[in-house]
Amino acid sequence: MLDTDYFDELMVCRLDTGRQQIEPCTIVIFGASGDLTARKLLPALYHLFSQGQLPTPVRIIGFARREKTDAAWREEVRLGIEQFSRTKKVDPAKWPAFAAQLSYCQGEFSDPAAYARLQARLAAFEDVRLQRNRLFYLSTSPLQFAEIAAQLSQAGLLELNPAGPHWQRLVVEKPFGQDLVSARKLNSELTRHAGERQIFRIDHYLGKETVQNILMFRFSNAIFEQLWSRQTVDHVQITFSEKIGVGNRGGFYEEAGVLRDVVQNHLLQVMALVAMEPPVALEPEAIRDEKVRFLKTVRILDPSQVSRHVVRGQYAETLLDGQKRPAYRQEVKVRPDSNVETYAALRLFVDNWRWAGVPFYIRAGKALALSACEVRVQFQSMPNVLFAAQCGPRLDANSITLRLQPNEGITLRFNGKVPGASTTIRPVRMNFSYDAEFGAYTQEAYERLLLEAIAGDPTLFIRCDEVETAWNIMDPIRAGWGATPLTEGEFYPWGCWGPAAANELLATHGREWRNPEP
Ligand SMILES: NC(=O)c1ccc[n+]([C@@H]2O[C@H](COP(=O)([O-])OP(=O)(O)OC[C@H]3O[C@@H](n4cnc5c(N)ncnc54)[C@H](OP(=O)(O)O)[C@@H]3O)[C@@H](O)[C@H]2O)c1
Repeated sequence: MLDTDYFDELMVCRLDTGRQQIEPCTIVIFGASGDLTARKLLPALYHLFSQGQLPTPVRIIGFARREKTDAAWREEVRLGIEQFSRTKKVDPAKWPAFAAQLSYCQGEFSDPAAYARLQARLAAFEDVRLQRNRLFYLSTSPLQFAEIAAQLSQAGLLELNPAGPHWQRLVVEKPFGQDLVSARKLNSELTRHAGERQIFRIDHYLGKETVQNILMFRFSNAIFEQLWSRQTVDHVQITFSEKIGVGNRGGFYEEAGVLRDVVQNHLLQVMALVAMEPPVALEPEAIRDEKVRFLKTVRILDPSQVSRHVVRGQYAETLLDGQKRPAYRQEVKVRPDSNVETYAALRLFVDNWRWAGVPFYIRAGKALALSACEVRVQFQSMPNVLFAAQCGPRLDANSITLRLQPNEGITLRFNGKVPGASTTIRPVRMNFSYDAEFGAYTQEAYERLLLEAIAGDPTLFIRCDEVETAWNIMDPIRAGWGATPLTEGEFYPWGCWGPAAANELLATHGREWRNPEP
């Protein structure tokens, strides 16, 4: 029995009971033999199918360049599920029914004949809903998104704002653009063929339970909202750290860097959820409106001032635990003189009533001490009387940490008396752990996101103005760096928390980073 069983059933608030039934449809995956499809998309679809969560009937068509039979693709999918899925196995009782829904359509993305073949395949389905409800998942290079949308449109498979009972949607993977100019261009290319309501831009962070819970935490509890402003908060820290380096993704990383890879999307999304105003309703557009409104209040840095607010870094060759770890510049497909950042720490300010003067520190990097993502809301120090007057800075200020991954949960840190004859105070923690409260929860972000896209609910996807506003915050940082080569102090060894200058970013204002715990 879980601890939660003692809660009265009446206290459980189900918000999606009135939700529309999801409709039968065909999911077409462009990039069917790609890494993401094998690691995430097909395992997610398999689990959803096994749990009876996909609509009935449903069909999944893989579209990619190489010639292969349906049977060969099914086998590839099965191996992918066994290697990458959260269960690491295929249930022999469920696999045949799932495999029967899969088929493969070979073609070049730029070849109209390939879309004619896809059209014929869809037309052959008996159920009109399988023919006409279409989810096109673009798991391809972003350079191919516009071409595929245009070809789908020319083939009559994708209509702009279709009327009537059937629907067509495009799900597009990240990165959405490289900067504001390219994101705008991509938005305009896609919206020529699909309305904004048909476009579902993925940020898989929004599919995470812990990220969704930020809104519940803030707006379904009266006690925290009272604390959530410049009146009580000293600053906010958002940390995204990875223990690994770029590995074999060097080619991709050379075009990205940590700002484009995680800060522009995942971390600005997390920041928006943590700091936005309450939406006027729980409708998708009301929530997205509020996120955009918040992002528009993030102060845009002047490129000439970037070095005062942003620290960049790149990992260097290191001997760690007796093993030699390569410098970023030594990784495969990385230029030996690359200045791409594998680490960034930012101090951002938000020019609105609630947050004026409260710095938001964001840091992200590879080859760091451990892998974690968390948000720490650091409250102001006590007034300098009573205990604080005696203890000075050793009396810890309170904080709330939202642990997004791993050890998912929320911790409130406050001071308490150490039992015993002496009067000693030290920080103690009140801890909510997802595992302890709910048991191990298993749904992966992509499972949730695929279901939402099939249901046509855009809440967990990024709207065009959201993506553009986020680039608008990031672009001046990259402009400030320009082509300036990295200096010695910007290199950091594996296994630490980034370059020393990142500590100075906080230390100059009497603050310090609080590192995630293992
Ligand atoms: N991989 C990840 O972990 C990850 C994480 C987050 C986001 N993403 C994003 O997801 C998307 C897909 O990434 P990925 O790593 O899965 O890519 P990938 O492994 O390189 O796969 C690309 C796929 O596209 C197909 N393809 C490429 N050019 C084609 C063409 N001209 N005509 C037809 N098919 C073509 C390939 O088919 P063939 O095999 O037949 O050539 C392959 O199925 C990208 O936008 C990426 O940024 C990936």
